[in-house]
Order: sequence, then C-alpha cells, then structure tokens
Amino acid sequence: MIRLQGVTKRHPNGLTALTDVSLSIAEGEFVFLIGPTGAGKSTLLRLLYRAEAPTTGRVFVTGRDITRLPARAVPALRRGIGVVFQDFKLLPRKTACENVAFALQVTGTPPDEIRPRTLAALEVVGLAGRADALPWQLSGGEQQRVSIARAIVHRPRLLLADEPTGNLDPRTSWEIIQLLSRINLRGTTVVVATHNTLVVDILRKRVIELAGGLVVRDEDDGLYASQA
Ligand SMILES: Nc1ncnc2c1ncn2[C@@H]1O[C@H](COP(=O)(O)OP(=O)(O)O)[C@@H](O)[C@H]1O
Ligand SMILES: [Mg+2]
Repeated sequence: MIRLQGVTKRHPNGLTALTDVSLSIAEGEFVFLIGPTGAGKSTLLRLLYRAEAPTTGRVFVTGRDITRLPARAVPALRRGIGVVFQDFKLLPRKTACENVAFALQVTGTPPDEIRPRTLAALEVVGLAGRADALPWQLSGGEQQRVSIARAIVHRPRLLLADEPTGNLDPRTSWEIIQLLSRINLRGTTVVVATHNTLVVDILRKRVIELAGGLVVRDEDDGLYASQA
C-alpha cells in the first residue's frame, strides 16, 4: 500500500524534515507514526497524499509511483486517500450531513448517490442522529467524527490521520482511536500520526517512531509480527 525508498525531504529554508527514510506498509495494516513535535510525522503524511514531493528518494502509494506525479494526476490520487486533521477543518456554515456530502459533490458524484452515501458514512461514525447539526452544535469528538465520515465517504483504501486526537480529552481520544481501528477492520489501511503514546501503548499496533527526521524504531517484524 505504501513504500518509501530512501526518502529525504529538505525544505527551501535548508531544514531537513526527513532523512533517508525507507519503510513499507502493507494493505490492511494499522500503523502508528509517533515521535516528538518536529520529528517529521506530518511531512511523511504530506508526502503520501502528495501535498509535498520528496527531495530525493521514491514514494509509492496504492501501488503507484507518485514520486513525480504531474499536478493533473493529484486529484485522482487524493480520491483514493482519506485525510483527517487535528483541527477537523469542517465548513462552519454547513451541517454535518452537508460537510460530508460536499466531498462527494466536488468530485462529481451522481446526485442520487450523494444522500445515501453521506448517511452511510455518518452511520459508520455513529452520528446518523446528528446529521442536521452545525459544527458549533457538536462536541470536539463529534466534529472529529464528522471529519472522519467525510474522509471515508469516497471509500478510500488508505486513511491518514495527523494528530486526530490532538484537540480532544483522553476519553474522547480513545473513542476516536477505536473508531479508526474499526474502520481498519473493515479493510482500510490506516496510518495515525500522534504523540499520544497512551493510546499507542494500549492498542499494540505496529509503531514507527521518528526522531529528528530519522526512523528510530519500526516494529515491522520481530515482536509485533509474532503477536499479530
Ligand atoms: N513548509 C516547511 N518549511 C520549512 N520547514 C518545515 C516545513 N514543514 C515542516 N518543516 C520543518 O520540518 C520538520 C518536521 O516537521 P513536521 O513534519 O511538521 O513534524 P511533526 O509533524 O512530527 O511535528 C520541523 O523541523 C519543521 O519545522
Ligand atoms: Mg505534525
């Protein structure tokens, strides 16, 4: 599903966010990407949904080499990838239902498919009963659920979450991680960047740890594999 080969990302200001990172993530895996602020987690995710290109090295996503993807091919790539952020990024004047439906509208989904697919996505995240609520009427956890519904409404094979629990209390964080885990069990590959090591320790999923732009731990084999 994902392969990075010797990826280095150097920013124009000379800062190197990732140095010679190589890793593979198989279809169907659930992986935590951990490390302190500035470690390079967001940069790694941004390379996967093509918000950035690597300086050197190669990036493969869903079986495609996206190292030098032309700009016109980016929208098609993004339709196969759901992305969730710390700050939800909901449209404030649209209801939960409209926020999710909007993702389908902008990609030209046939109008008669939009409502059933939107409600199905809200059902998955447990918010079918709040479809007509505006973001400000929802708790932080509920807003994150709406953003997850929006991210999965295209039925992506890959779901990326960048600090999805960064604005949430511990109990709500745990619920969101469990929701992502359930989505993974339905067959979606999930990569979660977080510095919330509590949930990471409890869930016993594969952990890739970055520090200063280097992979310092990857339980791709050994302990993790023997427990999987
Ligand atoms: N657009 C950018 N321009 C310059 N430096 C950046 C940019 N984005 C990230 N960086 C730097 O790259 C490093 C990694 O950042 P980031 O990937 O956001 O780490 P994390 O998500 O683990 O906190 C940091 O030193 C950060 O300052
Ligand atoms: Mg980050």
